[in-house]
Amino acid sequence: MAPRDGLQSQHSLIPTEAKVSFIEALSESGLSEIEAGAFVSPKAVPAMADSLLVFQKMKRKKGVVYSALAPNEKGLDLAVLAGVNKIAVFTAASETFNQKNINATTKESLKRFLPVVSKAKIASLPIRGYVSTAFFCPYEGRISPEAALRVCLELLDLGVDEISIGDTIGRACPDDVRRLLDLCLKKIPADKMALHFHDTYGMAVANALAAWDEYKIARFDASSGGIGGCPYAPGASGNVALEDLAFAFESCAGKTGVDLKKINKALDGIAPYIEKPFSSRLQTLRSAL
Ligand code: HMG
Ligand code: MG
Repeated sequence: MAPRDGLQSQHSLIPTEAKVSFIEALSESGLSEIEAGAFVSPKAVPAMADSLLVFQKMKRKKGVVYSALAPNEKGLDLAVLAGVNKIAVFTAASETFNQKNINATTKESLKRFLPVVSKAKIASLPIRGYVSTAFFCPYEGRISPEAALRVCLELLDLGVDEISIGDTIGRACPDDVRRLLDLCLKKIPADKMALHFHDTYGMAVANALAAWDEYKIARFDASSGGIGGCPYAPGASGNVALEDLAFAFESCAGKTGVDLKKINKALDGIAPYIEKPFSSRLQTLRSAL
């Protein structure tokens, strides 16, 4: 997630070349998928305004899926022009968050996605559907698991191939995750689900391990260095740090295929442009890696 969720909230301009080098370096680290940009309104998220250029300039590694956000038809057309391998539409379980983030109600957003999904299918692009604020909303507080499930099912009905359930403000704890997954897994197969934990309260690794151990969810979104956050979720930190998540899974569950030295190399290149220090625990232990 680092090139998209990680960089989208940066206030200072990051040169396109630095983003390209970052993505190319991450591509060498064993990751199977990289969300490399967002075809969203440049007024809403100026930091992603050069996504087309990034896609056009970056060298791609065979076997890596390079995805991007595409919230409407304009975004989809740009994503196709950019040659993305996968697109993601995004909506939320909270109406207030949706209004602030995408200027639409949940129902309006789903209607907006209809032509996006059908055009993406014509272009043979796999489609991810994000459900943000699936546990807590920065404006409405706790969100019921039933409300989150409803939006997941509506996205699947539209034709998305997988759902990424977002703890946008990084507030959920393992019991919140259990409550939602108990409900979701009655309706949605585990292999259609990814979990997208932000790590504001330091719960993300525990949440991911619980989801893997108890529910066999095997796809987790992460951001190298723990960088990022959503511009419309004030105070939220970045996604769980890729290094910390990989370390936890290598310790408890087996090989992840991620080369942490190569992640560090990628982070060295982007570090001068990142406003906050990296938040991952493993960054303090670099010499031991
Ligand atoms: P709107 O203002 O309702 O849309 O925004 P509009 O169709 O009226 O367009 C307004 C202007 O934006 C127009 O330009 C359009 O051309 C332009 P103008 O005529 O004023 O010069 N525009 C675009 N430009 C480029 N690409 C596009 C595009 N669409 C419109 N695709 C819209 C609606 C959805 C476009 C806007 O609100 C938006 O882009 N929002 C995106 C916000 C965003 O990117 N948030 C962060 C990502 S979501 C996230 O971080 C959560 C996640 O990580 C999961 C989690 O953590 O929970 C995924
Ligand atoms: Mg996010």
